[in-house]
Amino acid sequence: MLDLVIRGGTVATACDVVRCDVGIREGRIAMLGEGLGEAARTIDAEGKVVTPGGIDSHCHIEQLSASGIRNADTFETATRSAALGGTTTVIPFACQHKGMDLFDVVRDYHGLAERGAIIDYALHLIVTEPTERLLSEQLPRLVSDGHGSIKLFMTYDAMRLHDEEVLDVLSAARGLGAMVCVHAENHGMITWMVRRLLDRGYAAPKFHAVSHPRLGEAEAIQRLIAMAELVDQPIMIFHVSTAEGAATIRAARGRGVKVWGETCPQYLFLTVAELDRPDGAKWCCSPPPRTEADQDALWQALERGDLSTVTSDHAPFAYDETGKLRAGPSPTFKEIPNGMPGLEARMPLMFDAIVSSGRMALTDFVRITATAPAEIYNLADRKGSIAVGKDADVVVWDAGRRVTLSDDKVSDAAGYTAYAGRTVTGWPEVVVRRGEVIVEDGTLHAAPGSGRFLPRSGGRAAAPTGRLAPELDPAKNFGAELG
Ligand code: URP
Ligand code: ZN
Ligand code: ZN
Repeated sequence: MLDLVIRGGTVATACDVVRCDVGIREGRIAMLGEGLGEAARTIDAEGKVVTPGGIDSHCHIEQLSASGIRNADTFETATRSAALGGTTTVIPFACQHKGMDLFDVVRDYHGLAERGAIIDYALHLIVTEPTERLLSEQLPRLVSDGHGSIKLFMTYDAMRLHDEEVLDVLSAARGLGAMVCVHAENHGMITWMVRRLLDRGYAAPKFHAVSHPRLGEAEAIQRLIAMAELVDQPIMIFHVSTAEGAATIRAARGRGVKVWGETCPQYLFLTVAELDRPDGAKWCCSPPPRTEADQDALWQALERGDLSTVTSDHAPFAYDETGKLRAGPSPTFKEIPNGMPGLEARMPLMFDAIVSSGRMALTDFVRITATAPAEIYNLADRKGSIAVGKDADVVVWDAGRRVTLSDDKVSDAAGYTAYAGRTVTGWPEVVVRRGEVIVEDGTLHAAPGSGRFLPRSGGRAAAPTGRLAPELDPAKNFGAELG
Protein backbone atom coordinates (compact mmCIF):
# COMPACT_ATOMS: atom_id res chain seq x y z
CA MET A 1 0.00 0.00 0.00
CA LEU A 2 1.11 3.56 -0.70
CA ASP A 3 1.60 6.05 2.11
CA LEU A 4 0.23 8.99 0.18
CA VAL A 5 -1.42 9.66 -3.16
CA ILE A 6 -1.74 13.14 -4.63
CA ARG A 7 -4.73 12.56 -6.89
CA GLY A 8 -5.90 14.21 -10.08
CA GLY A 9 -3.48 17.14 -10.32
CA THR A 10 -1.68 18.64 -13.30
CA VAL A 11 1.83 17.34 -12.66
CA ALA A 12 4.76 19.31 -14.05
CA THR A 13 8.42 18.51 -14.53
CA ALA A 14 11.00 20.53 -16.44
CA CYS A 15 10.02 18.56 -19.58
CA ASP A 16 6.37 17.57 -19.35
CA VAL A 17 2.99 18.54 -18.00
CA VAL A 18 0.60 15.58 -17.51
CA ARG A 19 -2.55 14.85 -15.58
CA CYS A 20 -1.78 11.97 -13.26
CA ASP A 21 -1.67 10.77 -9.69
CA VAL A 22 1.56 10.78 -7.68
CA GLY A 23 2.03 7.72 -5.46
CA ILE A 24 4.44 8.01 -2.55
CA ARG A 25 5.94 5.28 -0.39
CA GLU A 26 8.66 5.54 2.28
CA GLY A 27 9.48 9.12 1.40
CA ARG A 28 9.96 8.56 -2.31
CA ILE A 29 7.88 8.79 -5.42
CA ALA A 30 6.85 5.19 -6.08
CA MET A 31 4.33 5.46 -8.92
CA LEU A 32 2.97 7.92 -11.45
CA GLY A 33 -0.26 7.17 -13.29
CA GLU A 34 -3.94 6.63 -12.79
CA GLY A 35 -5.73 4.28 -10.41
CA LEU A 36 -2.67 3.75 -8.23
CA GLY A 37 -4.63 1.81 -5.63
CA GLU A 38 -4.90 2.03 -1.88
CA ALA A 39 -3.08 4.67 0.10
CA ALA A 40 -2.98 5.57 3.77
CA ARG A 41 -3.78 9.13 2.80
CA THR A 42 -5.07 10.85 -0.33
CA ILE A 43 -4.75 14.52 -1.19
CA ASP A 44 -7.27 15.75 -3.73
CA ALA A 45 -5.34 17.84 -6.30
CA GLU A 46 -8.18 18.08 -8.82
CA GLY A 47 -7.82 21.47 -10.54
CA LYS A 48 -4.45 22.06 -8.87
CA VAL A 49 -0.90 22.24 -10.22
CA VAL A 50 1.67 19.80 -8.79
CA THR A 51 5.37 20.67 -9.01
CA PRO A 52 8.63 19.57 -7.41
CA GLY A 53 9.47 21.39 -4.18
CA GLY A 54 11.63 24.43 -4.75
CA ILE A 55 15.40 24.30 -4.37
CA ASP A 56 16.91 27.58 -3.17
CA SER A 57 20.59 27.20 -3.88
CA HIS A 58 21.74 30.58 -2.55
CA CYS A 59 20.53 31.70 0.87
CA HIS A 60 22.31 32.92 3.99
CA ILE A 61 21.03 31.22 7.12
CA GLU A 62 22.23 31.87 10.67
CA GLN A 63 25.40 33.12 9.02
CA LEU A 64 27.95 35.62 10.19
CA SER A 65 27.70 38.17 7.40
CA ALA A 66 30.30 40.36 5.69
CA SER A 67 29.21 43.22 7.96
CA GLY A 68 30.09 41.16 11.03
CA ILE A 69 26.56 40.56 12.32
CA ARG A 70 24.63 37.33 12.13
CA ASN A 71 21.59 37.02 9.84
CA ALA A 72 18.30 37.44 11.67
CA ASP A 73 17.12 33.90 10.96
CA THR A 74 18.04 30.66 12.63
CA PHE A 75 17.89 27.46 10.60
CA GLU A 76 14.50 26.90 12.17
CA THR A 77 12.94 30.23 11.22
CA ALA A 78 14.55 30.36 7.78
CA THR A 79 13.56 26.86 6.75
CA ARG A 80 10.08 27.30 8.25
CA SER A 81 9.58 30.31 5.99
CA ALA A 82 11.06 28.43 3.05
CA ALA A 83 8.67 25.50 3.54
CA LEU A 84 5.67 27.80 3.83
CA GLY A 85 6.69 29.31 0.49
CA GLY A 86 7.02 25.96 -1.29
CA THR A 87 10.77 25.36 -0.97
CA THR A 88 11.88 21.94 0.27
CA THR A 89 15.68 22.12 -0.17
CA VAL A 90 18.14 24.90 0.63
CA ILE A 91 21.85 25.34 0.06
CA PRO A 92 23.10 27.94 2.54
CA PHE A 93 26.72 28.49 3.56
CA ALA A 94 29.35 27.37 6.02
CA CYS A 95 31.12 30.71 6.11
CA GLN A 96 34.77 31.06 6.98
CA HIS A 97 35.82 34.51 8.19
CA LYS A 98 39.49 35.41 8.27
CA GLY A 99 41.28 33.71 11.15
CA MET A 100 38.73 30.88 11.36
CA ASP A 101 39.60 27.23 10.83
CA LEU A 102 37.43 25.85 8.03
CA PHE A 103 36.94 22.48 9.78
CA ASP A 104 35.56 24.28 12.86
CA VAL A 105 33.34 26.46 10.68
CA VAL A 106 31.81 23.50 8.88
CA ARG A 107 31.27 21.58 12.12
CA ASP A 108 29.52 24.60 13.67
CA TYR A 109 27.14 25.14 10.75
CA HIS A 110 26.29 21.45 10.71
CA GLY A 111 25.42 21.75 14.40
CA LEU A 112 23.10 24.69 13.75
CA ALA A 113 21.43 22.98 10.79
CA GLU A 114 21.00 19.62 12.54
CA ARG A 115 19.25 21.37 15.40
CA GLY A 116 17.01 23.67 13.39
CA ALA A 117 16.49 22.68 9.76
CA ILE A 118 12.95 21.75 8.80
CA ILE A 119 13.74 20.99 5.17
CA ASP A 120 16.72 19.24 3.57
CA TYR A 121 19.95 21.11 3.05
CA ALA A 122 23.42 20.99 1.55
CA LEU A 123 26.17 23.51 2.33
CA HIS A 124 28.44 25.66 0.14
CA LEU A 125 31.86 26.32 1.69
CA ILE A 126 32.76 30.05 1.83
CA VAL A 127 36.53 30.40 1.64
CA THR A 128 38.10 33.72 2.69
CA GLU A 129 41.60 32.54 3.61
CA PRO A 130 42.91 30.04 1.07
CA THR A 131 46.03 28.95 2.94
CA GLU A 132 48.17 26.03 1.78
CA ARG A 133 46.63 23.87 4.54
CA LEU A 134 43.09 24.81 3.54
CA LEU A 135 43.75 24.09 -0.13
CA SER A 136 45.69 20.88 0.17
CA GLU A 137 44.24 19.30 3.30
CA GLN A 138 40.91 20.81 4.36
CA LEU A 139 39.13 21.27 1.03
CA PRO A 140 39.87 17.71 -0.15
CA ARG A 141 38.43 16.29 3.10
CA LEU A 142 35.39 18.56 3.12
CA VAL A 143 34.58 17.98 -0.54
CA SER A 144 34.84 14.22 -0.10
CA ASP A 145 32.57 14.53 2.96
CA GLY A 146 29.84 15.85 0.65
CA HIS A 147 30.40 19.60 0.30
CA GLY A 148 30.70 19.74 -3.47
CA SER A 149 30.68 23.52 -3.92
CA ILE A 150 32.82 26.45 -2.80
CA LYS A 151 31.90 30.13 -2.70
CA LEU A 152 34.25 33.09 -3.14
CA PHE A 153 33.79 36.83 -2.86
CA MET A 154 35.58 39.33 -5.13
CA THR A 155 34.39 42.22 -2.93
CA TYR A 156 33.65 43.05 0.74
CA ASP A 157 36.75 43.96 2.78
CA ALA A 158 36.14 41.11 5.21
CA MET A 159 35.57 38.41 2.62
CA ARG A 160 37.25 39.11 -0.68
CA LEU A 161 40.02 37.21 -2.37
CA HIS A 162 42.64 38.76 -4.63
CA ASP A 163 42.93 37.42 -8.15
CA GLU A 164 45.86 35.14 -7.29
CA GLU A 165 43.88 33.65 -4.42
CA VAL A 166 40.87 33.19 -6.70
CA LEU A 167 43.13 31.28 -9.08
CA ASP A 168 44.45 29.14 -6.22
CA VAL A 169 40.92 28.14 -5.23
CA LEU A 170 39.76 27.60 -8.82
CA SER A 171 42.74 25.40 -9.46
CA ALA A 172 42.22 23.41 -6.24
CA ALA A 173 38.52 23.01 -7.04
CA ARG A 174 39.41 21.65 -10.47
CA GLY A 175 41.45 18.90 -8.84
CA LEU A 176 38.57 18.08 -6.51
CA GLY A 177 35.74 18.28 -9.04
CA ALA A 178 33.93 20.93 -6.97
CA MET A 179 31.76 23.76 -8.30
CA VAL A 180 32.90 27.33 -7.54
CA CYS A 181 30.27 30.02 -6.99
CA VAL A 182 31.31 33.67 -6.94
CA HIS A 183 30.05 37.07 -5.84
CA ALA A 184 31.56 39.02 -8.73
CA GLU A 185 31.82 42.80 -8.39
CA ASN A 186 34.88 45.04 -8.82
CA HIS A 187 36.03 45.83 -5.28
CA GLY A 188 38.16 48.86 -6.15
CA MET A 189 35.33 50.54 -8.04
CA ILE A 190 33.00 50.07 -5.07
CA THR A 191 35.38 51.33 -2.37
CA TRP A 192 36.43 54.29 -4.56
CA MET A 193 32.80 55.23 -5.17
CA VAL A 194 31.88 54.80 -1.48
CA ARG A 195 34.69 57.13 -0.43
CA ARG A 196 33.78 59.82 -2.96
CA LEU A 197 30.07 59.66 -2.13
CA LEU A 198 30.54 59.83 1.64
CA ASP A 199 33.18 62.58 1.37
CA ARG A 200 30.62 64.71 -0.46
CA GLY A 201 27.79 63.99 1.97
CA TYR A 202 25.84 61.55 -0.20
CA ALA A 203 25.01 59.05 2.52
CA ALA A 204 21.32 58.10 2.11
CA PRO A 205 20.42 54.48 1.28
CA LYS A 206 19.86 55.31 -2.40
CA PHE A 207 23.59 56.04 -2.78
CA HIS A 208 24.31 52.39 -1.97
CA ALA A 209 23.17 51.66 -5.51
CA VAL A 210 25.37 54.42 -6.95
CA SER A 211 28.35 52.95 -5.09
CA HIS A 212 28.00 49.63 -6.94
CA PRO A 213 28.59 50.68 -10.56
CA ARG A 214 27.02 48.36 -13.09
CA LEU A 215 30.34 48.39 -14.97
CA GLY A 216 31.88 46.80 -11.89
CA GLU A 217 29.64 43.78 -12.18
CA ALA A 218 30.37 43.11 -15.86
CA GLU A 219 34.10 43.71 -15.33
CA ALA A 220 34.34 41.28 -12.41
CA ILE A 221 32.31 38.63 -14.23
CA GLN A 222 34.55 38.98 -17.29
CA ARG A 223 37.71 38.79 -15.16
CA LEU A 224 36.42 35.78 -13.28
CA ILE A 225 35.49 33.99 -16.49
CA ALA A 226 38.99 34.63 -17.83
CA MET A 227 40.51 33.15 -14.67
CA ALA A 228 38.16 30.16 -14.85
CA GLU A 229 39.09 29.62 -18.49
CA LEU A 230 42.79 29.77 -17.66
CA VAL A 231 42.50 26.85 -15.27
CA ASP A 232 39.45 25.20 -16.89
CA GLN A 233 37.24 25.32 -13.81
CA PRO A 234 33.41 25.45 -14.05
CA ILE A 235 31.87 28.42 -12.23
CA MET A 236 28.51 29.79 -11.14
CA ILE A 237 28.06 33.57 -11.10
CA PHE A 238 25.78 34.49 -8.24
CA HIS A 239 23.08 37.19 -8.32
CA VAL A 240 23.56 38.69 -11.80
CA SER A 241 21.86 42.10 -11.71
CA THR A 242 22.67 43.86 -15.00
CA ALA A 243 22.06 43.40 -18.71
CA GLU A 244 25.83 43.62 -19.27
CA GLY A 245 26.52 40.93 -16.67
CA ALA A 246 24.08 38.56 -18.35
CA ALA A 247 25.53 39.38 -21.80
CA THR A 248 29.03 38.59 -20.56
CA ILE A 249 27.90 35.16 -19.40
CA ARG A 250 26.06 34.56 -22.69
CA ALA A 251 29.19 35.35 -24.68
CA ALA A 252 31.32 32.98 -22.60
CA ARG A 253 28.77 30.17 -22.78
CA GLY A 254 28.65 30.72 -26.53
CA ARG A 255 32.32 29.83 -26.81
CA GLY A 256 31.92 26.74 -24.64
CA VAL A 257 33.02 27.97 -21.22
CA LYS A 258 31.34 26.10 -18.35
CA VAL A 259 29.83 29.13 -16.67
CA TRP A 260 26.37 29.32 -15.14
CA GLY A 261 24.52 32.36 -13.90
CA GLU A 262 21.74 32.95 -11.43
CA THR A 263 19.61 35.97 -10.76
CA CYS A 264 17.21 36.74 -7.91
CA PRO A 265 13.69 38.15 -7.50
CA GLN A 266 15.11 41.48 -6.32
CA TYR A 267 16.63 42.00 -9.80
CA LEU A 268 13.55 40.75 -11.67
CA PHE A 269 10.87 42.63 -9.72
CA LEU A 270 12.49 45.62 -7.96
CA THR A 271 14.42 48.66 -9.12
CA VAL A 272 16.78 51.16 -7.57
CA ALA A 273 13.73 53.34 -6.78
CA GLU A 274 13.03 51.19 -3.70
CA LEU A 275 16.20 52.49 -2.05
CA ASP A 276 14.88 56.06 -2.26
CA ARG A 277 12.00 55.30 0.10
CA PRO A 278 12.11 56.53 3.73
CA ASP A 279 12.84 52.93 4.80
CA GLY A 280 15.19 52.38 1.83
CA ALA A 281 17.64 50.45 4.05
CA LYS A 282 15.35 47.44 3.69
CA TRP A 283 16.34 47.18 0.03
CA CYS A 284 20.11 47.65 0.45
CA CYS A 285 21.61 44.49 -0.95
CA SER A 286 24.63 43.78 -3.12
CA PRO A 287 24.50 44.07 -6.00
CA PRO A 288 21.64 46.55 -5.71
CA PRO A 289 18.37 46.34 -7.65
CA ARG A 290 18.88 48.12 -11.01
CA THR A 291 16.50 49.35 -13.73
CA GLU A 292 13.46 48.12 -15.63
CA ALA A 293 15.67 47.63 -18.70
CA ASP A 294 17.85 45.29 -16.63
CA GLN A 295 14.76 43.40 -15.50
CA ASP A 296 13.80 42.85 -19.16
CA ALA A 297 17.32 41.72 -20.04
CA LEU A 298 17.43 39.28 -17.11
CA TRP A 299 14.07 37.77 -18.09
CA GLN A 300 15.35 37.35 -21.64
CA ALA A 301 18.50 35.72 -20.28
CA LEU A 302 16.37 33.26 -18.31
CA GLU A 303 14.23 32.54 -21.36
CA ARG A 304 17.32 31.85 -23.49
CA GLY A 305 19.05 29.80 -20.79
CA ASP A 306 21.95 32.26 -20.41
CA LEU A 307 20.94 32.38 -16.73
CA SER A 308 19.88 29.06 -15.24
CA THR A 309 18.42 29.61 -11.78
CA VAL A 310 16.58 32.16 -9.67
CA THR A 311 17.57 32.02 -6.01
CA SER A 312 16.50 34.22 -3.12
CA ASP A 313 19.94 35.29 -1.82
CA HIS A 314 17.97 35.42 1.43
CA ALA A 315 20.13 37.55 3.75
CA PRO A 316 17.74 38.77 6.41
CA PHE A 317 18.30 41.63 8.85
CA ALA A 318 15.45 43.09 10.88
CA TYR A 319 14.59 46.72 10.21
CA ASP A 320 15.60 47.75 13.73
CA GLU A 321 18.64 48.31 15.93
CA THR A 322 19.60 44.59 15.76
CA GLY A 323 19.96 44.72 11.98
CA LYS A 324 19.49 47.33 9.29
CA LEU A 325 19.50 50.22 11.82
CA ARG A 326 22.26 48.95 14.08
CA ALA A 327 24.25 52.17 13.48
CA GLY A 328 21.23 54.31 14.45
CA PRO A 329 17.92 55.43 12.94
CA SER A 330 19.59 57.21 9.97
CA PRO A 331 22.63 55.18 9.03
CA THR A 332 24.86 56.04 6.11
CA PHE A 333 24.45 53.53 3.28
CA LYS A 334 27.84 52.10 4.19
CA GLU A 335 26.62 51.22 7.71
CA ILE A 336 23.58 49.25 6.53
CA PRO A 337 24.09 45.46 6.50
CA ASN A 338 23.58 44.15 2.96
CA GLY A 339 20.81 41.78 2.11
CA MET A 340 17.07 41.18 2.22
CA PRO A 341 14.77 38.30 3.11
CA GLY A 342 13.31 36.24 0.26
CA LEU A 343 13.14 32.51 0.99
CA GLU A 344 9.39 32.55 1.48
CA ALA A 345 8.44 34.84 -1.40
CA ARG A 346 10.68 33.36 -4.13
CA MET A 347 8.44 30.51 -5.31
CA PRO A 348 5.12 32.43 -5.25
CA LEU A 349 6.72 35.42 -7.03
CA MET A 350 8.16 33.17 -9.73
CA PHE A 351 4.95 31.14 -10.13
CA ASP A 352 3.02 34.37 -10.57
CA ALA A 353 5.52 35.90 -13.01
CA ILE A 354 6.13 32.77 -15.10
CA VAL A 355 2.99 30.65 -14.91
CA SER A 356 0.10 32.93 -13.98
CA SER A 357 1.21 35.77 -16.26
CA GLY A 358 2.00 33.32 -19.08
CA ARG A 359 5.47 34.78 -19.56
CA MET A 360 6.98 31.30 -19.87
CA ALA A 361 5.76 27.73 -19.54
CA LEU A 362 5.03 25.78 -16.37
CA THR A 363 7.96 23.54 -17.33
CA ASP A 364 10.22 26.63 -17.27
CA PHE A 365 9.06 27.45 -13.75
CA VAL A 366 10.01 23.94 -12.63
CA ARG A 367 13.37 24.08 -14.42
CA ILE A 368 14.37 27.45 -12.99
CA THR A 369 13.22 26.89 -9.41
CA ALA A 370 14.03 23.20 -8.91
CA THR A 371 15.49 21.07 -11.70
CA ALA A 372 18.35 23.33 -12.79
CA PRO A 373 19.70 23.91 -9.27
CA ALA A 374 19.44 20.16 -8.61
CA GLU A 375 21.49 19.45 -11.73
CA ILE A 376 24.08 22.19 -11.24
CA TYR A 377 24.71 21.29 -7.58
CA ASN A 378 24.53 17.52 -8.14
CA LEU A 379 21.36 16.78 -6.21
CA ALA A 380 19.41 15.49 -9.20
CA ASP A 381 19.66 11.84 -8.14
CA ARG A 382 17.33 12.74 -5.23
CA LYS A 383 15.83 16.17 -5.78
CA GLY A 384 14.40 18.60 -8.30
CA SER A 385 11.86 16.57 -10.25
CA ILE A 386 8.78 14.39 -9.98
CA ALA A 387 9.95 10.97 -11.13
CA VAL A 388 9.83 7.47 -9.74
CA GLY A 389 12.66 6.99 -7.24
CA LYS A 390 13.17 10.64 -6.34
CA ASP A 391 12.49 12.04 -2.90
CA ALA A 392 8.82 12.93 -2.65
CA ASP A 393 9.30 16.70 -2.34
CA VAL A 394 6.15 18.04 -3.91
CA VAL A 395 4.09 21.23 -3.90
CA VAL A 396 0.37 21.40 -4.67
CA TRP A 397 -0.46 24.87 -6.00
CA ASP A 398 -3.78 26.60 -5.95
CA ALA A 399 -3.05 28.33 -9.25
CA GLY A 400 -5.96 30.73 -8.92
CA ARG A 401 -5.47 31.92 -5.36
CA ARG A 402 -4.56 35.60 -5.10
CA VAL A 403 -2.42 36.66 -2.15
CA THR A 404 -1.15 40.13 -1.32
CA LEU A 405 2.28 39.91 0.28
CA SER A 406 2.60 41.91 3.47
CA ASP A 407 4.91 42.32 6.45
CA ASP A 408 2.41 40.86 8.91
CA LYS A 409 2.29 37.56 6.98
CA VAL A 410 6.02 36.76 6.85
CA SER A 411 7.28 33.88 8.94
CA ASP A 412 11.02 34.49 8.86
CA ALA A 413 12.77 36.60 11.49
CA ALA A 414 13.41 39.68 9.32
CA GLY A 415 9.88 40.86 10.04
CA TYR A 416 9.33 42.43 6.62
CA THR A 417 9.05 41.47 2.99
CA ALA A 418 10.69 43.44 0.21
CA TYR A 419 7.51 42.85 -1.83
CA ALA A 420 4.86 44.23 0.55
CA GLY A 421 1.73 45.25 -1.35
CA ARG A 422 2.43 43.04 -4.38
CA THR A 423 -0.37 40.63 -5.24
CA VAL A 424 0.57 37.25 -6.66
CA THR A 425 -1.68 34.70 -8.31
CA GLY A 426 -0.89 31.11 -7.33
CA TRP A 427 -0.05 29.86 -3.87
CA PRO A 428 1.62 26.72 -2.46
CA GLU A 429 -1.29 25.09 -0.68
CA VAL A 430 0.26 21.77 0.35
CA VAL A 431 3.98 21.08 0.71
CA VAL A 432 5.30 17.54 0.97
CA ARG A 433 8.87 16.81 2.10
CA ARG A 434 10.13 13.26 1.65
CA GLY A 435 6.54 12.05 1.66
CA GLU A 436 5.43 13.95 4.77
CA VAL A 437 2.86 16.71 4.50
CA ILE A 438 4.74 19.55 6.18
CA VAL A 439 2.52 22.47 5.13
CA GLU A 440 -1.24 22.44 4.87
CA ASP A 441 -3.77 25.27 5.27
CA GLY A 442 -0.92 27.70 5.84
CA THR A 443 0.29 25.75 8.86
CA LEU A 444 3.62 24.03 9.32
CA HIS A 445 3.60 20.42 10.54
CA ALA A 446 7.29 19.59 10.87
CA ALA A 447 9.75 19.76 13.71
CA PRO A 448 13.03 21.65 13.78
CA GLY A 449 15.83 19.19 13.12
CA SER A 450 13.73 17.03 10.78
CA GLY A 451 15.59 18.33 7.71
CA ARG A 452 18.46 16.16 6.49
CA PHE A 453 21.94 16.94 5.22
CA LEU A 454 22.39 16.13 1.52
CA PRO A 455 26.00 15.09 0.91
CA ARG A 456 27.05 15.49 -2.71
CA SER A 457 30.16 15.64 -4.85
CA GLY A 458 30.59 18.37 -7.46
CA GLY A 459 29.12 16.07 -10.11
CA ARG A 460 28.85 16.52 -13.84
CA ALA A 461 28.36 20.30 -13.90
CA ALA A 462 31.58 20.81 -11.95
CA ALA A 463 33.69 18.54 -14.15
CA PRO A 464 36.36 20.42 -16.17
CA THR A 465 36.00 20.56 -19.95
CA GLY A 466 39.52 19.24 -20.51
CA ARG A 467 40.42 22.41 -22.40
CA LEU A 468 43.17 24.02 -20.33
CA ALA A 469 44.54 27.37 -21.49
CA PRO A 470 47.61 26.78 -23.72
CA GLU A 471 49.89 28.29 -21.07
CA LEU A 472 48.81 25.60 -18.61
CA ASP A 473 48.59 22.73 -21.04
CA PRO A 474 51.59 20.48 -20.37
CA ALA A 475 51.45 19.05 -23.86
CA LYS A 476 51.84 22.50 -25.41
CA ASN A 477 54.49 23.79 -23.04
CA PHE A 478 56.89 22.33 -20.57
CA GLY A 479 55.71 18.80 -20.38
CA ALA A 480 54.88 19.45 -16.72
CA GLU A 481 51.54 20.03 -15.03
CA LEU A 482 51.21 23.59 -13.73
CA GLY A 483 47.49 23.45 -12.99
O1 URP B 1 23.44 41.85 -0.15
C1 URP B 1 23.62 40.64 -0.13
N1 URP B 1 23.42 39.93 -1.21
N2 URP B 1 24.03 40.07 1.00
C2 URP B 1 24.33 38.74 1.19
C3 URP B 1 25.76 38.44 0.95
C4 URP B 1 26.05 38.31 -0.50
O2 URP B 1 26.56 39.24 -1.07
O3 URP B 1 25.74 37.29 -1.11
ZN1 ZN C 1 26.84 37.91 -2.88
ZN1 ZN D 1 24.43 35.89 -1.08
